[in-house]
Amino acid sequence: MIRNEVLDAIRARRSTRQFQKRQIEPEHLNAILEAATWAPSGSNSQSWLFTAIQNEDVLAKINELVREGFRHYIPDDDYLPKHAAKARAQKENYHFFYHAPTLIIASNRPNYQNAMADCALALENIFLAAHSLGLGSCYINQLHWLGNDPKVRSYLFELGIPKEHTICSAAAIGYIEKESSAPQRKEGTIRIIK
Ligand SMILES: Cc1cc2nc3c(=O)[nH]c(=O)nc-3n(C[C@H](O)[C@H](O)[C@H](O)COP(=O)(O)O)c2cc1C
Repeated sequence: MIRNEVLDAIRARRSTRQFQKRQIEPEHLNAILEAATWAPSGSNSQSWLFTAIQNEDVLAKINELVREGFRHYIPDDDYLPKHAAKARAQKENYHFFYHAPTLIIASNRPNYQNAMADCALALENIFLAAHSLGLGSCYINQLHWLGNDPKVRSYLFELGIPKEHTICSAAAIGYIEKESSAPQRKEGTIRIIK
């Protein structure tokens, strides 16, 4: 097995779901956001917007709006995590980004077919950058699912995310309270044709 810093980081990064309360350093946030902007993008569009939120009241309000949004949310397919998230959101202690002190929302311009792909690549940069700085991270999908919920949407607009933007994804970032174990790699997912 070949090892180097990049490959080791790719193998060792895990999704964190228990964070410490303490905030991350400003220079770490800057480095993580800058890493996001170095991701590849279709035709070098770089049309994404990364909105980092660290204000406790704002984070609490987003969590509340998402909880409320899930009450009316009707999953548009049978993807189980959507249904599970809706059910979990009814619980009093529901927190969709695991009380992480920093949430980065990735949005992109409308009617752009690479919007999700570009933001997903940027998110992986965010996760690897966070990992390299000793921080935990997790991909957060709820704002994508509820991106068109009127109350969620208008609050995101208040935060400066353009109304017409596609809400692609979000990243929870913070110091790790509890390490996650590595899921087994599935067999048969690689083919090499020579
Ligand atoms: C598109 C996508 C959506 C995801 N959404 C969530 C999510 O909303 N909440 C969450 O806790 N994890 C989410 N994850 C993280 C996966 O559950 C996680 O990557 C997977 O279980 C493998 O674990 P690892 O990241 O530690 O290797 C998402 C991952 C991807 C790629």
